[in-house]
Amino acid sequence: HRHLLGIEGLQAEEITALLDLAEEAVEVSRQVEKKKAVLRGRTQINLFFESSTRTQSSFELAGKRLGADVMNMSVASSSVKKGETLIDTAITLNAMNPDILVVRHHAAGAVHLLAQKVGCSVINAGDGAHEHPTQALLDALTIRRHKGPIHDLTVAICGDILHSRVARSNIMLLNALGARVRCIGPSTLLPKGLDRLGVEIFTDMRAGLTDADIVMMLRLQRERMDGSFVPSVREYFHFFGLDAEKLSFAKPGALVMHPGPMNRGVEIDSAIADGPQSLIREQVEMGVAVRMAVLEALAQNLPNG
Ligand code: CP
Repeated sequence: HRHLLGIEGLQAEEITALLDLAEEAVEVSRQVEKKKAVLRGRTQINLFFESSTRTQSSFELAGKRLGADVMNMSVASSSVKKGETLIDTAITLNAMNPDILVVRHHAAGAVHLLAQKVGCSVINAGDGAHEHPTQALLDALTIRRHKGPIHDLTVAICGDILHSRVARSNIMLLNALGARVRCIGPSTLLPKGLDRLGVEIFTDMRAGLTDADIVMMLRLQRERMDGSFVPSVREYFHFFGLDAEKLSFAKPGALVMHPGPMNRGVEIDSAIADGPQSLIREQVEMGVAVRMAVLEALAQNLPNG
């Protein structure tokens, strides 16, 4: 592949190969000298039209650990503020001969469109409520390191599924690797057609969490709600917030994940987020490794050889 635009279209063997490559990147990242020079002399531009803590910083570190020259485009102080379009911005940056563009945008499909207009490789770092492929890969890597093969694990994805590109990418990846995927949330936050994605659907946390191996919590994305349905925080936490009592319905030893950023006390109790079953900090470490793996895999197919 020349781009990574989504999990959709990746074969199970390709996903597994990326996870194996990421295992090597974990080792590199834990050395004193964290370098593997597969992108030496290459230029990577991070172009984030939406805010990010984890994804942007880990793509920057990943590129640097592979020897690339990494430039973070500051959209907030760019000519986007003067009305320049996404495509004109991308074409302008493309004229500077980057090898890789890492793009996050608030509109679903924007990164696919951009990839058709530029000559370099493009990585989707999150487009609207559509896909966030490197998040799903890092989640899979984290799960695999604790539970072994993902095949036959039961993974419960909980909360605001409707607005979640993380949920969509995870559903596709986990299904491709043979997991049983459940989605739990209020009916107003479950997208139409979810049943066609090969998941079991629950509106009750205790029923949906029963015997789950992995509990994946999602942020309540209030900024993407149009005001017609914004649940009260207290009510949402009561019914859908993960606390010790609800978690007790999952398998003993079940592990808890959250892509971040977290709203403590909204979708997850602080005691669970910081507790012994939480993998949240490890997900961040795996984020760097997975992004190194994706960059390394694309390096073999960069347009300029
Ligand atoms: N999980 C995730 O994408 O986090 P950021 O929005 O901070 O990048």
